[in-house]
Amino acid sequence: MNASEAVQPVVHAWQGLINAYRAWMPAVTSRTPVVTLHEGNTPLIRATHLSGLTGCEVWLKVEGANPTGSFKDRGMTVAVSKAVEAGTEMLVCASTGNTSASAAAFGARAGVRTVVLVPKGAVALGKLAQTVQYGAEVVELTGTFDDCLRVARELAAEHPVALVNSATNDHRLAGQQTVAFEIVDVLGDAPDLHCLPVGNAGNITALWRGYTAYEKAGRASRRPRIWGFQAAGAAPLVLGRTVEAPQTVASAIRIGNPASRDGALAARDESGGQISAVSDEQILAACRLLARHEGVFVEPASAVGVAGLLAEHAAGRVPAAQRIVITVTGNGLKDPQASIPEGYHSLETSTATSDVARALHLTS
Ligand code: F0G
Repeated sequence: MNASEAVQPVVHAWQGLINAYRAWMPAVTSRTPVVTLHEGNTPLIRATHLSGLTGCEVWLKVEGANPTGSFKDRGMTVAVSKAVEAGTEMLVCASTGNTSASAAAFGARAGVRTVVLVPKGAVALGKLAQTVQYGAEVVELTGTFDDCLRVARELAAEHPVALVNSATNDHRLAGQQTVAFEIVDVLGDAPDLHCLPVGNAGNITALWRGYTAYEKAGRASRRPRIWGFQAAGAAPLVLGRTVEAPQTVASAIRIGNPASRDGALAARDESGGQISAVSDEQILAACRLLARHEGVFVEPASAVGVAGLLAEHAAGRVPAAQRIVITVTGNGLKDPQASIPEGYHSLETSTATSDVARALHLTS
């Protein structure tokens, strides 16, 4: 191969979700400037260990492979493209961390000022690092995510800023629904069951919208049952009431008053599904299982769908031989502190190879 052959562009390379699924986003027109980081097209991988455990065919949709490490990029490409089209000079969002990182990245790409409102001291380190490095202004509020969302809504009502939370911005949902399209495009039809974590409930709302749109258009013959899971200490949709002081190790879904409650309940009821709770112990165990047995490193909130499926299976409520997709929503590097068990220490030895071998019990 000579040098000129080596630089031939690959014309069919993936160019992001708007390029791939524009037909399903009527708000995006030829006048919309596309702001993209080539998000989407994430791996859908067969989970052999989970399949063996449950007697089902389990697949993982690995959303941590998105450019900023979570599914949030799917909606953000559409929301920021439309905000730029509208001449917006400032993006605002409330966030537990991943929406911040994504808004900050797309804001940087678009050259637009980005402000994120986050609960003080409650955002995982990796997410904060991303948000700061992308150049967003971080405002920490002494309160919960729910307080941040209220303030963000009030700011947007009174000032010329674009609010890019999915609860208030339908473009986010238009982008996030593409996860269902990708799954059907790969599997050839919708699965029997789809499991995912639920926090502010935008993602479950968008997922259901995506499956519904594909079924209506004849791209899928059916829609899956949707099983959403919340952390037990932050489970307003399970309890049927707001949780004033939500608590869970899964900081991404530490939310007591989900803005898209109605969308979540519609997805549950129309699909014949359920929304239930899992404990922090079950969440952390699912994180470990995913890393050690599937080779997939996720942050705690991202393992909630796996924890839920395992809990339901243990209770005898998962019929055999189902085809199941689980969204694992964000990368483990987001929250490194949650992944190192208390008291963990590595082996330490001198630089003598014999010492290393002894430490590894290769010799005595
Ligand atoms: N998983 C991760 C990794 C998340 O960051 C979130 C939400 C969810 C699941 C739940 O999705 O809110 O649409 O039900 N994170 C938001 C944020 C709240 O600000 O980053 P949801």
